[in-house]
Amino acid sequence: MKTLVGIDDIASYVPKLYLEAEELAKARGIDPNKIVKGIGIEQLSIPDVYEDAATMAAMATLRLMEKNDLQPKDIDFIHVATESSPDAAKPISCYVLGMLEQRYGGGSFAHIGAPETKFACVGATYAMIDRLAYLASGWNQRKYAIVVGTDIAKYDINSSGEPTQGAAAVALLLGKNPRLMVYEPAFTSFGTVDDRDFFRPIEHTTAVYDGHYSIGCYLRNMRIAADAYKKKMFNSQGLKTLQSSLNDQIDLISFHCPFPKMVEYAFASFLIHDWRGLPKWNKLLDSTGPEPDRAGMSDIEFYISKKYSAFRKNFTKTKEFLHEYEEKVVNSLSALKLIGNSYTASVWLGVINQFEKQRDDLEGKRFGIGSYGSGSSAIICSFIVQPGYKEVVTNLNLMGALSQRHRISIEHYERLHNRKLELHESILPPKNEFTLDHIGKDRNNIGYRYYKFIE
Ligand code: CAA
Repeated sequence: MKTLVGIDDIASYVPKLYLEAEELAKARGIDPNKIVKGIGIEQLSIPDVYEDAATMAAMATLRLMEKNDLQPKDIDFIHVATESSPDAAKPISCYVLGMLEQRYGGGSFAHIGAPETKFACVGATYAMIDRLAYLASGWNQRKYAIVVGTDIAKYDINSSGEPTQGAAAVALLLGKNPRLMVYEPAFTSFGTVDDRDFFRPIEHTTAVYDGHYSIGCYLRNMRIAADAYKKKMFNSQGLKTLQSSLNDQIDLISFHCPFPKMVEYAFASFLIHDWRGLPKWNKLLDSTGPEPDRAGMSDIEFYISKKYSAFRKNFTKTKEFLHEYEEKVVNSLSALKLIGNSYTASVWLGVINQFEKQRDDLEGKRFGIGSYGSGSSAIICSFIVQPGYKEVVTNLNLMGALSQRHRISIEHYERLHNRKLELHESILPPKNEFTLDHIGKDRNNIGYRYYKFIE
């Protein structure tokens, strides 16, 4: 019999501080509407001085374990994905393990595997596939594996990426016969190209990127992955291209969200490609105007051309697009508008948000994931929502946590960004959380990070 594996539960952690996008816009002399309406970000999640990607990962994992009453003996792996690791050699997962042992006892996690995966914003999705395959193979000794995605999105002050900054962590509890969603491995598809859209050389604390070019890479890789997914799905179901739509087979979607408008670009581009040539296509073109010619252009040149952007914008105004967007995508974005980019955590925050916001019965629905990481790779995969999801969604608490955050001023944000505060000068006093206590200064521990749980 086929082993069903998937996601049993999800927990998240978002820093308690946030900056209003309008305040940032005013400080930078840009129209607030550009950030709030143009790119879709209302608030930016900002880590306090004692937080980093490791403390956020440990907090999300602790929440996951506590709400499911898990002990270390129930877990095979803690596999952490990040592109903002504080160390270039030591895996962030070992720092996370050390923090958790402050709660569960020294040596309590000694039996687990604890790798780190890096692939920009798609890292957690790659880690999840690895761990699900491990569980499906039957190699696991214990019931669960935990995959954590944790990141701080940090760009230079006054740069075009600055308004998209944010931070968060998610922890996925993976197991057999999961309560939330069962994975569909047969359709999982990739779109991978060696590219320079966004990267962070070791000596940099902020990302180097080519903003509009990176949008083109996202759309190109998503299309490659979606074509492959469609082929596998259509072959398995006996469906025919130009007669059927992949979109009709998917009920809910969460896309990687560097900023919410990107998700609109992505879903529109997906539908344009999926619907092109279907019987309804010519009627749609009556509202949008003809699709521009791409002759002589590379994929990227085409996707970021003014002509294609204008066509896509017309498409997003059609009632056919708006209906699908409202039904399948919009509910993934409410939290992301209030967090900003959280790189590898982002697509999974969208999943949580869908479950928190959807009022319909989701049992049996297909949940699509559009994950993208610069460098660059897209993964399209899917799950089927299980009857047990109703129990799990009562305790996701992402929107609730966001409503309890503390607003900071632009001055405080800039001091945190520019590392002008000492570890003891936090904006809020830490409580019930892991903190970065101090950093080693001696010959044998220079740069080593010491963490402490503060009751
Ligand atoms: N009022 C309302 N809307 C306005 C406006 C105003 N005053 N001014 C501009 N806008 C709208 C624009 O019309 C545009 O919307 P449409 O595309 O629908 O027309 C939107 O605001 C953005 O405007 P611009 O493209 O002119 O903005 P920009 O040049 O400042 O760049 C960006 C935006 C490229 C995304 C920039 O934020 C950036 O470089 N971000 C970092 C890189 C990034 O996030 N890339 C995404 C893909 S890569 C990835 O996904 C991985 C990752 O996480 C980084």
